[in-house]
Order: sequence, then structure tokens, then C-alpha cells
Amino acid sequence: MKTILEAIDLTKVYKVGKIEVPALKGVSLKVREGEFISIMGPSGCGKSTLLHTLGGLCQPTSGKIVIDGEEISEAKDAVRTDIRRRKIGFVFQRFNLLPTLTARGNLEIAREIHGNGKEDQKHVDQILALLGLENKVGHKPSELSGGEQQRVAIARAIINKPSILLADEPTGNLDTENSLIVLTMLQELNRKFNQTIIMITHNPEAAAVANRLIEMRDGRIVPHEHDVSWDAKEDKIYI
Ligand SMILES: Nc1ncnc2c1ncn2[C@@H]1O[C@H](COP(=O)(O)OP(=O)(O)O)[C@@H](O)[C@H]1O
Ligand SMILES: [Mg+2]
Repeated sequence: MKTILEAIDLTKVYKVGKIEVPALKGVSLKVREGEFISIMGPSGCGKSTLLHTLGGLCQPTSGKIVIDGEEISEAKDAVRTDIRRRKIGFVFQRFNLLPTLTARGNLEIAREIHGNGKEDQKHVDQILALLGLENKVGHKPSELSGGEQQRVAIARAIINKPSILLADEPTGNLDTENSLIVLTMLQELNRKFNQTIIMITHNPEAAAVANRLIEMRDGRIVPHEHDVSWDAKEDKIYI
């Protein structure tokens, strides 16, 4: 199976005035195409920092990240942004939709549609339908439930066919029923379209929809025997 993401010995130190906060203390990770990985761990252990670093939202202090053959860790801001736009989809706990735009408008912006191309509009509507939102395309976020807003956010995240979908507690603001709908849709995206997904969650039931669990503690990945054996043949041990 193709490796879609490889991170080697990542560290991240935040500087707050004169204080240094080590958030990642050497994380190595290999993700294969089509995996659905969940990341769990106590608050403050570095989960969001890891996801943001993997997705090129911030630069690691040291270490290397290669996404689908392109090195993102040492790239200049503009190059990193470009790789991120082409290869990464992000979903956040707070949906982060543009409030003045409709569901369709939020997707069109992500696709950078300036005209009104019929093909593009068809594609946008198809993706919204895939997320069960065919009757909501003209609704603004305030006219949608939390679960529907998150589905729009997922639709927006996958509109440009990213290599990897990164989700930071996507069900953190949802009730049980809507959480289940969103998780089921992520699972379908993974199974039907082989979408690679890395999802942070606090919820063991949410983690269970994934096919690999990564546990973090204090800026590190907690090793599991099972994962180590996976790559035991190689020089480096990836978790
Ligand atoms: N922008 C930032 N500036 C300074 N410290 C930060 C910043 N973001 C996160 N941290 C710190 O880094 C550590 C890891 O945070 P985070 O990655 O958000 O953890 P988690 O997502 O697991 O709760 C925490 O100690 C947090 O306070
Ligand atoms: Mg977090």
C-alpha cells in the first residue's frame, strides 16, 4: 500500500515571550493511502499541534513531513500553503463556515469559483448530495443544524479531492445523534472513496470507526506492540 504521509522525528516548541512550550517531542508516523486513523489523548498532549503541523498549518521546529511525495516541513510559507490547498482538507470542531454564504457558496469559495461554470456548480451540488445535503444547498449556516453545518464543512474539505482529510474533534460540538451521522459519513468516505482520514477525538466510540488508533501523551505517541511489528523490517520504527 502506498505511503501517503510520512513524518519523521517531529518536534514543535511554541515560544510565548521567553517561555518555551514543547508541544511535540519527537513524533514519527507513517500513514498509508486509505487508512482511517484516530488520535486520542488527554487535553494539552499535542494532538492539535500534530494535526496542524502535518497539514502544513504550522511549521515544525524540527523534523520532516512528506505528503504524497512532496516535502512540506521545510517549504516556505507560500509553497506550504500551496501544497496544503492541493493535498489537505481540514475539518474543525467549530465548523468554521462563512456565515454570510449558503452551503453551496461555502463550497464554491473553497473551489475558488469566480464565474458560474455549470460543471463546477454540478460538482459542488454532487458533493453536497453525497453528504445528504441536497435539500440544503441554499441554506446559510444559521439556517442549518450543527450536524448539517459539519457536513457542509466536510463537503468543503473534500471538494478539491485532498490526499488526506484531517479532522480535529469533528464531533466535539455535536449531540450523540449528529455525531453518529457525521462519523458514519466519514467512514463512508473512507470505505467508498478510499479517502485517507486522520481524526482527533475524545470519544472512544468515535475512535472505533477508524481502523487504527494512535494514542498520544505529553507530546509523544504511545507505542503499541501491534504497530511496531508492522514496520519491524525497516530501519526505523514507525508508529
Ligand atoms: N499557539 C500556541 N502558543 C503557545 N502554546 C501553545 C499553542 N498552541 C498549543 N500550545 C500548547 O501546546 C501544548 C499542546 O497543545 P495542543 O496541541 O492544542 O493539545 P491538544 O490538542 O492535545 O489539546 C499545550 O501545552 C498547549 O498549551
Ligand atoms: Mg486540540
